[in-house]
Amino acid sequence: MTETKWNKDKPLTLDDFEMPLVPGTLFHGADYNPEQWFFDPKVVEEEDPRLMLATHSNVMSIGMFSWSMLEPSEGRYELDYMEEIIDRLYDHGIYTFLSTPSGARPAWMSKKYPEVLRVREDRVRILHGHRHNHCFTSPVYREKVYEINRRLAERFSDHPGVLLWHISNEYGGDCHCDLCQEAFRNWLKERYASLDELNHAWWTTFWAHTYTDWSQIESPSSIGESKVHGQNLDWRRFVSHQTADFLRAEILALRDGEKRKLPTTHNFHDFVAQDLDYHVLAKEIDVVSWDNYPLWHHPERGDVREGPMRSFIHDINRTLKDGRPFLLMESSPSATNWQAVAKLRRPGLHGLQSMQAIAHGSDSAQYFQWRKSLGSSEKLHGAVIDHYQSEDTRVFREVKSFGEDLTRLGAVAGSKTKAEVAIVYDWENGWAYSDSEGPINIHRPRYYDVCNQHYRPFWEAAISVDVIGLNQDLSEYKVVVAPLLYLMPKQFADRVRTFVAAGGTFITGVWSGIVNETDLAYRTGRPGPLRDVLGIWVEETDALYEGEKRWVRETEGEGGYEATRLLDLIHLEGAEALYEYGEDFYEGVPAVTRHPYGEGEAYYLGFHSADEFYLDIYQRIIEGLDLRRNWSKPLPLGVTAQRRETKDDTYIFFLNFREESIELEIDGDYIDMMKNRPTTSQLTIPSYTYAILKKS
Ligand code: GLA
Ligand code: ZN
Repeated sequence: MTETKWNKDKPLTLDDFEMPLVPGTLFHGADYNPEQWFFDPKVVEEEDPRLMLATHSNVMSIGMFSWSMLEPSEGRYELDYMEEIIDRLYDHGIYTFLSTPSGARPAWMSKKYPEVLRVREDRVRILHGHRHNHCFTSPVYREKVYEINRRLAERFSDHPGVLLWHISNEYGGDCHCDLCQEAFRNWLKERYASLDELNHAWWTTFWAHTYTDWSQIESPSSIGESKVHGQNLDWRRFVSHQTADFLRAEILALRDGEKRKLPTTHNFHDFVAQDLDYHVLAKEIDVVSWDNYPLWHHPERGDVREGPMRSFIHDINRTLKDGRPFLLMESSPSATNWQAVAKLRRPGLHGLQSMQAIAHGSDSAQYFQWRKSLGSSEKLHGAVIDHYQSEDTRVFREVKSFGEDLTRLGAVAGSKTKAEVAIVYDWENGWAYSDSEGPINIHRPRYYDVCNQHYRPFWEAAISVDVIGLNQDLSEYKVVVAPLLYLMPKQFADRVRTFVAAGGTFITGVWSGIVNETDLAYRTGRPGPLRDVLGIWVEETDALYEGEKRWVRETEGEGGYEATRLLDLIHLEGAEALYEYGEDFYEGVPAVTRHPYGEGEAYYLGFHSADEFYLDIYQRIIEGLDLRRNWSKPLPLGVTAQRRETKDDTYIFFLNFREESIELEIDGDYIDMMKNRPTTSQLTIPSYTYAILKKS
């Protein structure tokens, strides 16, 4: 591998950097691709600035797909046009998030240097086309990225309009070329002291898969090895590591060229794609940002369910930088053409989905994209300006009206949010759990959905939540929930033990404590190293087909629920049973347990179920816990209250995802921020809208 000119020990993030990027300012804007419109100068020179101002836009993200214009042939750099765009925006009071162009490369490069093209898992090298498909190890690609990035930094880092480096675009996927294979082996050599250690960790004696030389190891493949779970898990870890390494190299190139140091971001995917560990990538950047593409109006799921789903991802992104504001880098202002069915948004929903981001700690609401392309893949994707180029559209009016609302909330920019409740979301668990081959191999509940079921009760109860990884400090929380800890690192279990002993409440669920961090099963009985804290032993787990149910009944009382999919059969070892199974050969066997441990308590929820179960059991658990609620009176399902706090004021954001209006009784003195006047005793929040109250 050739030198990438960067020093591993030098931190590339800015130590002294604080949000907000511009004091008193929340951002409103979009991905802006003026290159597509150069054939019609009036569009770029007159119409765009005029319409941007009309929508109260104050930022545009530019440059992410500009490489073939910035470097039309090898080594010929043409950056002047970019300066014109940045100047024009700045002259109109609009800032720039300037992107590096590595997300899609010029055709000349793929032609001349095939090594920049990825090799698929079936070992076929791809042709030029699409995007997000470069080899992340290739020295040639890193060199080309280095050169363009450094030049962008030399030229634009001290432009007063440029606020932030937007590194590439939605990294993802993997490459299986020889260069990546070599990098994988080197990464493994650092992780494992010897081949013997690796063979044990991967349990390769099974099927005589023992490796006797490092060179025999390859990345997982459908035409090769794919059954060694520890190997698959390490490959996913390596891919995150290598992508983070590429991200670092991109930042270093900028740092090498900068006249003024600017903070960096990378826009994370919507969680539909889960192939990178964002805890690893987030360390490399200054500001987290992400791209939100909800499935509104889905006939089965419904908006009252999609609301908390989306909030959960916002909370993950906020917690990746310890509660510091993130940015909503992209969202569709209308239909999303790549979804199975590209539904129109009901009136109001555009503003609601955008304000939802702000409520959870975003300092921006931005769109993909400003102007709808006339051709190619995303010509039917929603945009602020339609093919019909006028402002006389419903979408434009909604964007404008939300932009206006945002201008009233500048005071919250930069405010950090810290919650009393933490929910664990761990990418490694997601990978290991879905690779486990049993006990359910069809329609297995998704890791993400399971975690979200545990999140929703807090969202409905208007309690703020941090969504943490396995390595974060637990001591400042009152409640820690690890919904599904199939992979339970001993170190995490030790921290949970300390946390509970000191008075914390810990909750975990079915199918936890099965394997360690290299995906080897624990020999000490389930749930692994937390058996003592939970005061239980899970001997067996039954699996059900979709649609099958088993009754679960309260041990003291009349209540009950239906268990689905996975059912842990629990022995009590000091815990008490709150629920037990009510049928099948395991009738009377404990199903939900509580165990006092030290000063605290640990709960085990031993089966999958519908949302009602989680809503009820968490209500019961949190009743006695004196947790801070953002709104103390009960809210109807599908309505939440989130909060942001500045030095002097608390802002309460009510978000209504229901199809009906709701009425809130208000006692106390609040300012209604959208009406800019004190509240009356009754507040109406129409369907798909929001209200924001300030309390001083
Ligand atoms: C992603 C990409 C954008 C665009 C949108 C469309 O988020 O970053 O370039 O393709 O999807 O939804
Ligand atoms: Zn590669």
